[in-house]
Amino acid sequence: MKVQPLTPIIGAEVSGLDLCHLTDRQFDGLSDAFTEHSVLFFRDQDAMAPADQVAFAKRFGPLHTHPAAPTLAEQDEIFVIHAHKDSKIANGNGWHTDVSCDEEPPLATILQLHLLPRTGGDTLFASMYAAYETLSETMKAFLLTLKAHHESEHIYRGRYADRGAADEDKVYPRALHPMIRTHPESKRRALYVNPSFTTRIEGLSKQESDALLAMLYQHQQRPEFQVRFNWSRNAIALWDNRCTHHFAMWDYWPEERKGHRVTIKGERPYLEATKEGSAPENLRLSRQL
Ligand code: OGA
Ligand code: MN
Repeated sequence: MKVQPLTPIIGAEVSGLDLCHLTDRQFDGLSDAFTEHSVLFFRDQDAMAPADQVAFAKRFGPLHTHPAAPTLAEQDEIFVIHAHKDSKIANGNGWHTDVSCDEEPPLATILQLHLLPRTGGDTLFASMYAAYETLSETMKAFLLTLKAHHESEHIYRGRYADRGAADEDKVYPRALHPMIRTHPESKRRALYVNPSFTTRIEGLSKQESDALLAMLYQHQQRPEFQVRFNWSRNAIALWDNRCTHHFAMWDYWPEERKGHRVTIKGERPYLEATKEGSAPENLRLSRQL
């Protein structure tokens, strides 16, 4: 197994593993790389059968059920990611972390793309550890006291109607989460607001909340915190929703892009009051900003 970091901050490409037949030792190595790099990419894989992708995902824990998206008929843990010339929307075409409106948002997502446009359709990922760690100590101290509302009605209502998902009787999830969360494995703190689902900071006026969120959204989109993945056929991305954001670039219309996504259940975000875990030495960015 080879782990090639793509930037000092986020992302690594992993090769030399067959994800359908991992030994426990290999899985442990992969888990460590995942904790260290937050997003892993695998290019040397064949198209995974739905059942194999689900089995791989279940090694990380029980799976998450999406509140809105339709699933594959023969394998209901699979969410088909598909954009084509008649699409009105493309999934993930804006910065977000998956389903943060849930009380227990997903731990991780595993996406394999089987069909790609000739060019374009990259996915960008950003480290929310880096976003947190580069704030001033005064801003960190303020944010550590705050919670924010995450909602999904404005995103999901009617979104999948063209795939036959009727939602007249549905109530879409909303949740109140700490603005800074502790990652359960790395123990590092990550900024946990995103421009797709976060609507309001609890306890601030609308004007204060809008202004602070706008500043944080701008800050967390700094290119230094990002890695951009240029997909190859059957490549797989495994991202940690607890400490990263992503943006699926829909720059390839009218071409088509298609794949299978499986999402792993996470726990309720929490903030540990104890001192944060050690930031890696490479995060000298904080001294530059
Ligand atoms: C997603 C998403 C990423 C992509 O499935 O959550 O944002 O690259 N998609 O399609
Ligand atoms: Mn997403």
